[in-house]
Amino acid sequence: MEKINIDKLISEMTLEEKASLCSAADAWHTKRIDRLNLPSAMVSDGPHGLRKEDDSPAHFGLLDSIEAICFPTASALACSFDRELIENVGNALGKECQSEDISVLLGPGINMKRSPLCGRNFKYFSEDPYLAGEMGAAFVNGVQKNDIGTSLKHFAANNQEWRRMSISAEIDERTLNEIYLTAFEKVVKQAQPWTIMCSYNQINGEYSCENKMLLTDTLRDKWGFKGLVMTDWGAMNDRVKALKAGLDLEMPSSHGETDKLIVKAVNNGSLDMETLDTAVRRILTLVDKSLISKDKHSGFKYDMEWHHEIAKETAENCAVLLKNNGALPLSKNQKIAFIGEFADKPRIQGGGSSHINCHKIDSALNSAKQFADVTYAKGYNTDNDITDEALLNEAVNAAKNADIAVIFAGLPDAFENEGFDRKHIDMPKCQNELIEEICKVQKNVVVVLHNGSSITMPWLDKVNAVLEMYLAGEASGAAAVNLLFGVANPSGKLAESFPLRIEDTPAYLNFPGNRDKVNYNEGIFIGYRYYDKKKMDILFPFGYGLSYTKFRYDNMKINGKSASENDFSFKDNDNVTVSVDITNIGEVEGAEIVQLYIENHIDEDNRPVKELRNFAKVKLAPGETKTVTFTLGFRAWAYYNETIHDWYVPSGDYKILIGASSRDIKEAKKVSVLSTVTIPFVVNKAATCEDVERFAKNKAPLDDMLMKCVKARHKEDSEKTLEEELKDLKCGFGGVPIHSTLSFTPDELKYEDIQQTIKAINESEK
Ligand code: BGC
Repeated sequence: MEKINIDKLISEMTLEEKASLCSAADAWHTKRIDRLNLPSAMVSDGPHGLRKEDDSPAHFGLLDSIEAICFPTASALACSFDRELIENVGNALGKECQSEDISVLLGPGINMKRSPLCGRNFKYFSEDPYLAGEMGAAFVNGVQKNDIGTSLKHFAANNQEWRRMSISAEIDERTLNEIYLTAFEKVVKQAQPWTIMCSYNQINGEYSCENKMLLTDTLRDKWGFKGLVMTDWGAMNDRVKALKAGLDLEMPSSHGETDKLIVKAVNNGSLDMETLDTAVRRILTLVDKSLISKDKHSGFKYDMEWHHEIAKETAENCAVLLKNNGALPLSKNQKIAFIGEFADKPRIQGGGSSHINCHKIDSALNSAKQFADVTYAKGYNTDNDITDEALLNEAVNAAKNADIAVIFAGLPDAFENEGFDRKHIDMPKCQNELIEEICKVQKNVVVVLHNGSSITMPWLDKVNAVLEMYLAGEASGAAAVNLLFGVANPSGKLAESFPLRIEDTPAYLNFPGNRDKVNYNEGIFIGYRYYDKKKMDILFPFGYGLSYTKFRYDNMKINGKSASENDFSFKDNDNVTVSVDITNIGEVEGAEIVQLYIENHIDEDNRPVKELRNFAKVKLAPGETKTVTFTLGFRAWAYYNETIHDWYVPSGDYKILIGASSRDIKEAKKVSVLSTVTIPFVVNKAATCEDVERFAKNKAPLDDMLMKCVKARHKEDSEKTLEEELKDLKCGFGGVPIHSTLSFTPDELKYEDIQQTIKAINESEK
């Protein structure tokens, strides 16, 4: 039930009031219109916690927000591969927004991890659009079921920090749709976020804020987005062009300056009132939703301690066990040394617009006291990269005198953050040196990592175990300790590939571009799509992670039939179910992330070797078996085809792969898929005779034309029939563009013959 009569209000608003509503009152509020009793709505950063600044309108700082719960950041959350878990985090955040009178949480960020160098990767989910989309949709659904909005960001192709406010991402249509828009499309279709935040950058020379292809043709017309589009903070370029492109709300305030431009444009006829009214209506709808929500949930206060527990359980479910030679779980009877400043002061989040003023922070050191009497040595400083000999010696001694050394390491803020990109993917030298030196005196070494994006591990062969915590939020320390001591069993898997060296990464030659442009020359091949296609060695593959137990995969079925049967063929739009049995064959309870990839055998479209098309996380007691069932539809087989500007499934063979990671495939089955879409074949400048043979509906006009040649050349004493000679000619002309056949048939064909042939073939396609 509307709290605002939107139609009436629009009819009562002056042009100036309408224009003014299209930009914010300050950093976080939409404008009030007192004359019409219209209140404002408040938005606040996210995404992994509330960064609500104090209420003074003049205020615009980064570090003095209210106390809130800091959940794991997106790069950690995605490693859970757990839709329900992410929805729970969203739900908790929605409750916090209710409690703090926030109408829209600014997040989640779902940009692709094109390069591990992007400074804000900690805020993004994955290198894979399917996974990022699924995580994003679960998050949005979780928040929004509390009548609180989200702002899906940063739309789109905002994959670096360097010159992020101006650079033009130069991307071909297929890559844009297949890699950089897919996650947005998924979230819009599966969760209808209340708002979307357009990114700072340009795409192919057009700022996102004024990009009609993006904000209207794609977002609204193709995907059916119903909400409001706001700018990122300061992303406005041409205000009037932006309104026409579908951009509703400018953030933050433009102090009335751009409002004047809107008024002027309406008055001089270059902007019609209807366009302005559309934006106004969307902003009023948002304010209305916010009023309804406030009414419904007024007075609600969330329980911080309870939410801290949610943050802890979430962190436990996200951590990835990268290596374990039996050193983990730790035993309470061991003499344990915790080494490294992050044991005492964990790095739990990144800096910048998502920085949360934490309610409290659990350190691993404090949390471990309940299990064992651990010793501690600081080992390194986080404010520089230089080895402190005294700290190093103290740490080496602590390691020497213990049965096991647990080193807490990772990236300090200076190495990755919003606002700048990383220069390399190495950990600080002082930390790498510390690990090397400790390995010289202690055979039993475990490394616990705190980083928002992939790193190199030159010491990997020398240590016994590695636990990747990522930036795991305020309960990171308690969660790490529960995982180390086996109270919780690691169950996360990597949502991004860990390369061996930065030089191996897909965008290495094109990141971050020059002052104006960044070329996405690697195209659709980012992350595992690139490493698989190039058959490269990597440090850890996408989808990889260990557990304290083991799982068996068997009994793969397709549409209920055993995969050992031979004949599986479907139409591209059939629903296909794939199931597999997973059994916990170890001694402890654990959870397995089962991944379904589709392998492509039709290489002419230059497709990735395989692509993630579904996943499930399944919790199993020792000895327990559960059947995991996936449903595949059209998009499982499809790629974005630039001829039809849409998704397309070429007929042919595919393989359904079920794996424990992108490089650990347990079950596989070849199937054949038939396209129900025919792409009309057009004889353009590049179309060859062979293309006609393969793709044209009507091949006769070309055969007739070439037969004319054959007849003209045919000798009485030829041993071959006319048909045989036609075959030879077609073979010889295979790669010749149709228009070029004239050059090779000077006496036999006329220009008109060729034109008529092209016309006849094209006519038949209509
Ligand atoms: C960031 C956004 C953030 C906004 C408001 C921008 O600089 O890109 O992610 O929501 O600031 O703080």
